[in-house]
Amino acid sequence: MQTDTLFEAEPQPESRTGENRFIGLAADQVSEGDAPAVMAELARLIERFNREYYEFDAPSVPDAEYDRLFELLRSLEARFPHLKREDSPTSRVGGAPREGFRKVRHSVPMLSIHTETDFSAEGARAFDARIRRDLGLEETDPPVSYDCELKFDGLATSLRYEKGRLVSAATRGDGLVGEDVTENVRTIRTIPLSLEGAPDVLEVRGEVIMHKADFEALNRRQAEAGEKPFANPRNAAAGSLRQLDSRITAKRRLHFYAYSLGECSESLAATQSGVLERLRGLGFPVADLHRTVQGPEALAAFHEEAARKRASLPFEIDGVVYKVDDLALEARLGFIAREPRWACAHKYPPEEAVTILEGIDVQVGRTGRLTPVARLRPVYVGGVTVSNATLHNEDRIAELDLAIGDAVVVRRAGDVIPEVLRALPERRAPNALRFKMPQACPVCGSAVVRDEEEKDLRCTGGLFCPAQMKLSILHFASRRAMGIDGLGEKIVDMLVDEGLVKTPADLFSLDFEALTAPTAASAESGKPVRRMGLKTAENLLASLERAKETTLARFLFALGCRHVGEVTALSLAQHFRSLEAIEAADQSALLEVSDVGEVIASSIEAFFKEPHNRSVIEALLAAGIHWPTPSAPAASSDAGVAGKTFVLTGTLPTLTRDEAKDRIIAAGGKVSGSVSRRTNYVVAGAEAGSKLAKAEALGVAVIDEAELLAMLEG
Ligand code: IVH
Repeated sequence: MQTDTLFEAEPQPESRTGENRFIGLAADQVSEGDAPAVMAELARLIERFNREYYEFDAPSVPDAEYDRLFELLRSLEARFPHLKREDSPTSRVGGAPREGFRKVRHSVPMLSIHTETDFSAEGARAFDARIRRDLGLEETDPPVSYDCELKFDGLATSLRYEKGRLVSAATRGDGLVGEDVTENVRTIRTIPLSLEGAPDVLEVRGEVIMHKADFEALNRRQAEAGEKPFANPRNAAAGSLRQLDSRITAKRRLHFYAYSLGECSESLAATQSGVLERLRGLGFPVADLHRTVQGPEALAAFHEEAARKRASLPFEIDGVVYKVDDLALEARLGFIAREPRWACAHKYPPEEAVTILEGIDVQVGRTGRLTPVARLRPVYVGGVTVSNATLHNEDRIAELDLAIGDAVVVRRAGDVIPEVLRALPERRAPNALRFKMPQACPVCGSAVVRDEEEKDLRCTGGLFCPAQMKLSILHFASRRAMGIDGLGEKIVDMLVDEGLVKTPADLFSLDFEALTAPTAASAESGKPVRRMGLKTAENLLASLERAKETTLARFLFALGCRHVGEVTALSLAQHFRSLEAIEAADQSALLEVSDVGEVIASSIEAFFKEPHNRSVIEALLAAGIHWPTPSAPAASSDAGVAGKTFVLTGTLPTLTRDEAKDRIIAAGGKVSGSVSRRTNYVVAGAEAGSKLAKAEALGVAVIDEAELLAMLEG
């Protein structure tokens, strides 16, 4: 890929104000003088994000961005304790119950879990070390048993059963008081409404989530109905559970996975893993992927295993949870503030983050395709630092409504290439620059045309553009084009990298000295290595000489004009019979050629209109490439080959595949690679395979080589 930078975000004083100024800001960059204003602004933002998240189930920023701002405020409060306000959002947890729901006080508080900040195996070791220390274990004591579970990304919910009947269900709320969602929970089909053999009072806690497939289907329905899509499955689950009208909840397919207990009138088991098995036995869904293990290395291995399986799970997880398995040990460990000492969450690096779109580069690929690439202020996402992301094409930029300088949400999940998910237009700087794709190739300056079929832009300077040169030369030299033997990928790389060849025309001015001189790099290193061997060079020069005698059809095909394959090249040659006539042809003249439709016609016209291409073509002719005047197209007749489509399969007794193909094409026929109802004949040789079977299945005529030769002569 060759790149050119087209648009730079100007240094924008405005982008350093408002919400965007917090991007990439660290606490120690804030002076005491600036701190009060920065802290007030952070508090205001966090409160807004809290409302978006807890009240409306519609966050405008990824969790990682929220966490970062929250941490920023916390560290500023630690640095300047006298500036900490009493109503700071850092001294609040969770959200208030939504208006309209009855409030429920949890008989046993719904706690949060401590999150290990280290995403690596170190996080698992730190947790184990802390547990051993808190339990007063020596190095020589045996390893601790842990239950490893998935960390579901949904809505914590508590289900209360009395005498085996579901009597109430509540969201977590602020941990002490939640919202009564009993009616809504009753619509979740996998939640048992009654239990056999359960304790008199049993509170089962777990997560209400939406499966990824159901989330996508829901968003499609939202879009069809002109409603706003949900940002992710967790918000969709929350928005669906926290509905005042349970008929709406019933229409959304929600799931519940159990993972712990609240109030319970008798003990279910002596271990956490035992509790999960009992819950499963009572009819609650419990995730299959959980495991009892010993010691820190096994914790880290589970963290990794779940990461590998993450993409194929039906629901989203944002990490794993480790819990001391022995409930007696849990009781000994107890709680600190509102977090149990016996558990921790070991998360995965955030997959979404906010950063600034600093510019858009346009890259030109080997086939001439122009791809806009977002240049981003470096941001940590999906476990790596990302500084650019593909924007695919201009339609995608319009769809995202991007302007340079925008704050954007970037996503990188697993090994998938990073992408810009959306912009945050409410934060747009007033001087943000709109982007337009260039009308000339940023690498070679040739005209750019839009390929409607593929919705992308392409450079038309195929014969001239350095970005496309290696591929164009390989195609030019290929067997069915100019047929230059000995010009494979390695040699083309060398010729272009050594600067010997810039266009296909330069091939014909290569000489023995240039080909066999030492490579530039080896000459510098003092150990000269020839660009190519003496014999290879001689052979190449000879085949270049031979290739000068060709046909107009081969030459046209070799030029590599987009959409002009062998068959079209032959049709063009037979119709126009001279290169000059083709160069001069306009759309309507081109459309008269059989096989040429509008897409092909405009591609041909653009190719020959491009002055860069014309000068390369002139240079090729000046180098001595020539051909006989082509014959007029053979008239199509029932008996002949002209106008018929053939498929070759198996080994023919005397002709090679290429010879057979050449002769069919020369006689005005077509050769296709696969059998369809449009195939007229399948020519079958020895060991013909599936194509023969398909021909028979479709009732296509099957002939042998002798019959083909007869038709060709015929
Ligand atoms: S146990 C006392 N297990 O993580 C610990 N929580 O901050 C009680 N979560 O909102 C929680 N998966 O909803 C536990 N396998 C799991 C979990 C899990 C997700 C959530 C839970 C809570 C948060 C804890």
